[in-house]
Amino acid sequence: MEAARRYSSHVKRGMCFAGRIAEMFLEYVKYYRWGENGMNDLEMYREQLAMCDDKIIDALVERNAIVEKIMEYKEMYGMPVLQPAQEKKQEQRRQERLQDNCYREEIEDVFGRIVRNSRKIQARKLFHYNIVLIGFMGSGKSTVSDYLSMIFAMDVIEMDQVIAEQQEMSIADIFETYGEEYFRNLETNLLVEMQFRQNVIISCGGGVAMRDENVAEMKKNGRVVLLTASPQTVYERVKDSGERPLLSGNKSVEYIAGLMEKRREKYEAAADIVIQTDGKTVLQICEELVTKLVELDEEDV
Ligand code: S3P
Repeated sequence: MEAARRYSSHVKRGMCFAGRIAEMFLEYVKYYRWGENGMNDLEMYREQLAMCDDKIIDALVERNAIVEKIMEYKEMYGMPVLQPAQEKKQEQRRQERLQDNCYREEIEDVFGRIVRNSRKIQARKLFHYNIVLIGFMGSGKSTVSDYLSMIFAMDVIEMDQVIAEQQEMSIADIFETYGEEYFRNLETNLLVEMQFRQNVIISCGGGVAMRDENVAEMKKNGRVVLLTASPQTVYERVKDSGERPLLSGNKSVEYIAGLMEKRREKYEAAADIVIQTDGKTVLQICEELVTKLVELDEEDV
């Protein structure tokens, strides 16, 4: 475009055609001059870029192999898998190194991906199945699944949320409009669909484990983790929530204790592992969860 504009302005100024050709030739020589080794500069830069990519690939392969070695080391010496403080240290080190770098933003963006992928590698190595969280309302399923998802870069299927989105209604409205049985069928259908997913966290609504067919679905492709909490703890966690139709008008420690007791047998029968959550941080709960799942796999071998 630029050349065309200039050319037409030359013509307007009455410059001869041969003069213009000579000018274009000089421009060509200027931009595409040959380097000493017979390669023009542009080709040379492209070659250098390809070599940089090779170095990045080699570095990433090396990095990922180190991630796996660290996992093996931790396993061998019975160390906790989750060490968020160490990850923070690593991040600080990177940030110091990038402090005055003019590509800081772009490089940090790439590292965001690299760290995420390291987490995925860890998750794939640890769990070749879905992690299915069950338990009473307020036992911590959503909190634990969010944390696990962050630490292992795994997708979460929050069943209540998916159902509410699919139905374009809150869970409380589904109960009120269509009744509990309708909602329970939606849960079963969703659970069946989810068995096609791999290496995801499925956070079940509190009633999902009550149907034997649901439990059979969970076990097809997943390990079932039961989270428990005392009625008092559950009460504290749910007392301000308006999204639990089964507790509306029934929010008391006694009611919770009664319903929990009625469900206890089914929950326990469904569980591959059980984690009691009272008084523990989410990090402690997740560490226990990983340790118990790994032990379970070792028993299976
Ligand atoms: C229910 C638990 C709720 C939700 C619905 C029914 C139950 O999920 O699925 O209100 O029967 O225990 P949360 O356990 O996530 O609160």
